Amino acid sequence: MVLKLAIDGGKPVRDDFLFFHRSSVGRDELNEIADSFASGWLTTGPKTAEFERRFADYLGASAVVGLNSCTAGLHLGLVALGIGEGDEVITTPITFPSTANVIEHQRARTVFVDVEPDTLLIDPKRLEEAITPRTRAAIPVHYAGHPCDMGRIMEIAKEHGIHVIEDCAHAIEAKIGGRHCGTFGEVGAFSFYATKNITCGEGGAACVKSEDLRDKLTVLRLHGLTKDAWKRYDKGGFAHYECVVPGFKYNMMDIQAAMLLHQLDKLEGFARRRREIVAMYDDAFREMPEVQPLARRPGIEHAHHIYPMLLDLERLNCSRDEFLNAMQAENIGVAVHFRALHLHPHYREKYGFRPGDFPNAEHASNRLVSVPLYPSLTDEDVKTVIAAIDKIVAHFRR
Ligand SMILES: Cc1ncc(COP(=O)(O)O)c(C=O)c1O
Repeated sequence: MVLKLAIDGGKPVRDDFLFFHRSSVGRDELNEIADSFASGWLTTGPKTAEFERRFADYLGASAVVGLNSCTAGLHLGLVALGIGEGDEVITTPITFPSTANVIEHQRARTVFVDVEPDTLLIDPKRLEEAITPRTRAAIPVHYAGHPCDMGRIMEIAKEHGIHVIEDCAHAIEAKIGGRHCGTFGEVGAFSFYATKNITCGEGGAACVKSEDLRDKLTVLRLHGLTKDAWKRYDKGGFAHYECVVPGFKYNMMDIQAAMLLHQLDKLEGFARRRREIVAMYDDAFREMPEVQPLARRPGIEHAHHIYPMLLDLERLNCSRDEFLNAMQAENIGVAVHFRALHLHPHYREKYGFRPGDFPNAEHASNRLVSVPLYPSLTDEDVKTVIAAIDKIVAHFRR
């Protein structure tokens, strides 16, 4: 039966608005923050160090540097690897702007290559074809939480002598053959932004392959100083700091780490619930050819950060944006991850990109819709999301 859409004055599938995202933070995080307050130490200190140790253990990484964002990790990766003016760095247009913005910050050239049409991950073949004598690095994005083909990408990187920085913003739990994303390249940058699988509101970390990179990032994250405040003000002898490089203000605070220590404890439970929700969506969309979830390759563990799907606009009498507005009217929060970055004004104007340059990315860019995926969703919530999609698809079916 075709029901009247809420956007046309019909009754929405639910009475209250279902947010696209809600963070799962509670008493444990609050008590740990209170502990930081009581100690009188709020910024980078013992809790940050503990989180770095524990997150490195979780990832099986040699070291982790706590930062205030994933963007900071991507940027410091480029700085520490000496990437600068005239260098080329390869990434894909299906990503958040910061993946490429950091390349621009370094006055290097952003080189986009197209994604695979079914996973929206960087296509290793296209990556290799884009390598020139000026290429210094690649930033594969583990989009949605699906690992890129790191085996092939690392082979290509070795063969051509380029660095790899992994954008792990979506990929906290993602693994290939049991090995965590972030541990393949020299640097893996993680995000703990409000919507991420674990969060402290704003935050990030870089997982690094060597002690040398750990030391470089630790200095670069705090103005390029040789001693951070915790070391300067502790009980040991007075220590002057020296500025050895013009660094950045990218350090993680203990009150961020306070939240993350407890989020890390809850990660496995969160992941279990995310998998249950994904299974509910997968089951429902199998019966709906108008919406196509992305492909998943064998041998990987997916972090299920977001649930993007492609609308089959050839089967529907609406645009993606009309679909989004209809979903919002049904009281379901939705999002788009992402609109192809090469067609955003900065990249279009600077590099002269035109529609048609990256057909797979552009095809997805006009069809992507992400639906709510977070641990506190109830089965009933998920059913209302599916009911809204069902209702809208029935209305617009050609
Ligand atoms: C793919 C990707 N990379 C990088 C980032 C930047 O993360 P942050 O906000 O922690 O800097 C995001 C943020 O959502 C992202 O989705």
